[in-house]
Amino acid sequence: MPQNTLTVTDNRTGQTYQVPIENGTVRAMELRKIKASPEDFGLMTYDPAFMNTASCRSSITFIDGDRGILRYRGYPIEMLAECCSFLEVAYLLLFGELPNDVQREKWVSEITHHTMLHETSKRFMEGFRYDAHPMAMLVSTVAALSTVYPEARNVQDASNRLLQIKRLIAKMPSIAAMSYRHSLGFPYVYPDNDLTYTENFMHMLWKMVEPKYAVHPVLARALDILFILHADHEQNCSANAMRSVGSALTDPYLATAAAAAALAGPLHGGANEEVLKMLDEIGSKQNVPAFIKKIKEGHGKLMGFGHRVYKNYDPRARVIKDTAERVFEVTGRNPKLDIALELERIALEDDYFVTRKLYPNVDFYSGIIYQAMGFRPEMFTVLFAIPRTVGWLAQWQEMLTDPEQKIARPRQVYTGCEERPLPAPEPHFVHEIEEARETC
Ligand SMILES: CC(C)(COP(=O)(O)OP(=O)(O)OC[C@H]1O[C@@H](n2cnc3c(N)ncnc32)[C@H](O)[C@@H]1OP(=O)(O)O)[C@@H](O)C(=O)NCCC(=O)NCCS
Repeated sequence: MPQNTLTVTDNRTGQTYQVPIENGTVRAMELRKIKASPEDFGLMTYDPAFMNTASCRSSITFIDGDRGILRYRGYPIEMLAECCSFLEVAYLLLFGELPNDVQREKWVSEITHHTMLHETSKRFMEGFRYDAHPMAMLVSTVAALSTVYPEARNVQDASNRLLQIKRLIAKMPSIAAMSYRHSLGFPYVYPDNDLTYTENFMHMLWKMVEPKYAVHPVLARALDILFILHADHEQNCSANAMRSVGSALTDPYLATAAAAAALAGPLHGGANEEVLKMLDEIGSKQNVPAFIKKIKEGHGKLMGFGHRVYKNYDPRARVIKDTAERVFEVTGRNPKLDIALELERIALEDDYFVTRKLYPNVDFYSGIIYQAMGFRPEMFTVLFAIPRTVGWLAQWQEMLTDPEQKIARPRQVYTGCEERPLPAPEPHFVHEIEEARETC
């Protein structure tokens, strides 16, 4: 009997099947061969929320949730955060290798020269209400780019795809900065091509009347590190949205808008905003035990804790904690850090959290840093969307070039009624029909 197989006996028929095992998986389509009768459709798997289903093969990001490991293209996240810039990491995620000097220069220059937005995008943005959520503005404006670049629809053309990838990576900070300034009522600031990716973003966010905005190098580097940490996270909810929408050969602006919409949810990228609201609600260190008690009694969740994949400390949370110290040396300590540290300390000793393997995730500390840097909580998910665009695009490109992929279309287990006749019309309904006929 071949070793890398699974033997399945169907007790309905007594028949035995050999199912090949490949990379620790069995192909769901193999199960279709298992039938109770020749007319039977064949066996399916039932896996709500993809708890145990690999939807693709991917060589981009590796996570070992039990050991708290995250690698992009084989490089540990901690090393990349220490030694690389965000645009180098973006290149790595998209092309598989870190750029050499010539490739880096070309790549950075190309991204820098695509940061301008068409004036129609600016006017589109101006139409939003003053209190529109920046994430809703971002999602809509990214989708609207599809009207500016109709050729993006040609997703099978590799050079066309690459052009749209560069545009999206370059324009996300410009859209994000516009959405931020829109909510404050400030005029939009055009990009400055002399600056790095994160410096330029900070310039577009915070420049007022001074001729040149002076970016603090420690804060620019901290933002760069945060962008590296958020760049990709394999098949998360928004990456899955990107792949699923992109599998219909939708253009990348619309697919990215769909992915960003998934990110906006409080169980995904919206969690860092929720963490800040939670810390505000707790108010002070002394209130932490009572808050934890409330959570354990089933009243809400400890936001920024728990992860579908990590059942250990999220390695990104560790890097963020170190980065926070450097940021606070410049900005002053965010008092919410003390509440967060106390929450973490108590939760990590508490049986409820220990047995469920609930540890701080990337969102637990990122919001505290962002707030210290001057961002309002509504902007946090937007700050997540900028770097994650790189991951979405890398996943999208991989999906489109994978000969095994097709339009994503799950199956269902139908639980509704069997075929049945329409009910006989009610007497008053028959009367109305007759009346209507007479007036015709
Ligand atoms: C991330 C998250 C959605 C993962 O969910 P999941 O993999 O479906 O995990 P489950 O909801 O099955 O959680 C397993 C158990 O832990 C509990 N749990 C999970 N996260 C929790 C949290 N943050 N606070 C309190 N309890 C939590 C669940 O209630 C469940 O308990 P039970 O077994 O008694 O029913 C979830 O942990 C969560 O909502 N966290 C808060 C939001 C957040 O920080 N999101 C950012 C992710 S990067």
